[in-house]
Amino acid sequence: MNTERIAIVGGSGLTWLDTLEVEQQKVIVTPYGDPSAPLTFGQFGKLPVVFLPRHGPGHTIPPHAVNYRANIWALHNVGVKKVISVASVGGITMEPGILCIPDQIIDYTWGREHTYVEPGHSPVKHVDFTEPYCDELRQTLIAAGLSASVRMKKDGCYGATQGPRLESAAEIQRMHRDGCDLVGMTGMPEAALARELGLCFAHLSLVVNWAAGLGKGAITMQEIQTNLDQSIAAVKKLIMAIEP
Ligand code: HPA
Repeated sequence: MNTERIAIVGGSGLTWLDTLEVEQQKVIVTPYGDPSAPLTFGQFGKLPVVFLPRHGPGHTIPPHAVNYRANIWALHNVGVKKVISVASVGGITMEPGILCIPDQIIDYTWGREHTYVEPGHSPVKHVDFTEPYCDELRQTLIAAGLSASVRMKKDGCYGATQGPRLESAAEIQRMHRDGCDLVGMTGMPEAALARELGLCFAHLSLVVNWAAGLGKGAITMQEIQTNLDQSIAAVKKLIMAIEP
């Protein structure tokens, strides 16, 4: 990979990169409203990055209320070409503690501002989404994960749900039948918006709980937080190991 600046969109547990050497912060105004936070430019290990916390600096923006269009537009606007999206997920076919670099998506979200395509423009644009993630960036993440020796699954299907509530056991069974390996609330429309703007976008999923009905009893925030605290260390190790 060359040394162009890479964007990291941080999710739950990653509202800040503590060893980031900050160079500057920029407030970006977009035609779609405000991004979740100012963009932070800096150096993370060997990697020049732009960091954006998806849920805001104080983690106050829930998944259904994130301004995905403003976030992705802001990153595109500052010239970023590659975006690593980090988010916690529930595991359907993989257990808590694993990091996954998914290769497919099923979108179950609804009512979100999910496109830059506006009515009234001809011809209507339809982006290809056969492979929803950028394979070059996926391979970079996989190589970094291997060199950092983190517990990682190299592919999987991410099912994006609306939230903020967690799913019912029957919904998870349906998602399993559909072929989902992971369930999260923020993976869409982020990935599709990045594709519309021609960005190379990949996802780093942290499995922080068994999805509904697959573990013992109800899912607790305590369980999620404990696994999240442990997985975040692995995420930072992986990102640090990316070869610029
Ligand atoms: N479902 C949806 N989103 C999630 C979950 C889950 O079980 N865990 C973390 N994010």
